[in-house]
Amino acid sequence: MPLLRKTLAVTGWTSLGAALAFTISTRKSTIHPVPETDYLLSTTLFARYNPNPNPSMRDICLRRVPLDRIKPELLAQEGRLVEAFCGAVWSGWAFEVQRRYLARKYRGPETEGQLWDVRDLERSAYAVGTKITDHFEVLSKNDSSIILRCGDSPRVNAYRESDGLFELTADVKKEEGVVEFGMKSVFYNSVAQPDAQSKPLQEPVGPYMQWAHQKYTKLLMEDAARKCMQ
Ligand SMILES: *[C@@H]1O[C@H](CO)[C@@H](O)[C@H](O)[C@H]1NC(C)=O
Repeated sequence: MPLLRKTLAVTGWTSLGAALAFTISTRKSTIHPVPETDYLLSTTLFARYNPNPNPSMRDICLRRVPLDRIKPELLAQEGRLVEAFCGAVWSGWAFEVQRRYLARKYRGPETEGQLWDVRDLERSAYAVGTKITDHFEVLSKNDSSIILRCGDSPRVNAYRESDGLFELTADVKKEEGVVEFGMKSVFYNSVAQPDAQSKPLQEPVGPYMQWAHQKYTKLLMEDAARKCMQ
């Protein structure tokens, strides 16, 4: 009994500490709803990958950082910051557990052309077609935005029950003296549901999953934003 009580006490304090550390370290990121009118939902990408269209779970995590705290070399060239931010997300400690898990399960001869290692993830320019840990694929890229498909292996070209778009943005707002980093998630089931009229459409993600997803997004954001700071 004492052992059990002690174990409980220790885990209790540890989770409280972890929760507190989490709250403090991610307090500068905010999660916002993504309205139906968001530009991502009117892109040809969204029409192509969710043609039915099925309902989506959506949110955006934003984090502002003063310009003078950003590593100067990331601002020297237009478009460099969003690449570095993207690289920071996939090479950071917040993604580490998932990266290792995916590597153990899916790294092999068929996926060797994808990005798996921290160094490669840090250095990639994330050109269209780049595949990451057999779970993400770059669909579109410009100087401030990288849009990835997520939810399943890039080797699965067909529509998927677990599908989605994930957009990483880095907006340099000179007048305000800040950089605003964004992570926008739009998750859905892209498989056709022909009897949708007679049945309510299946929700893509339950409330607990959405909650957990938002916590995870905040961690990825904090980690990546810090890697872009000096
Ligand atoms: C980059 O692409 C995004 C998403 O399509 C768009 O909203 C944005 O205006 C583009 N930015 C530039 C600098 O072209």
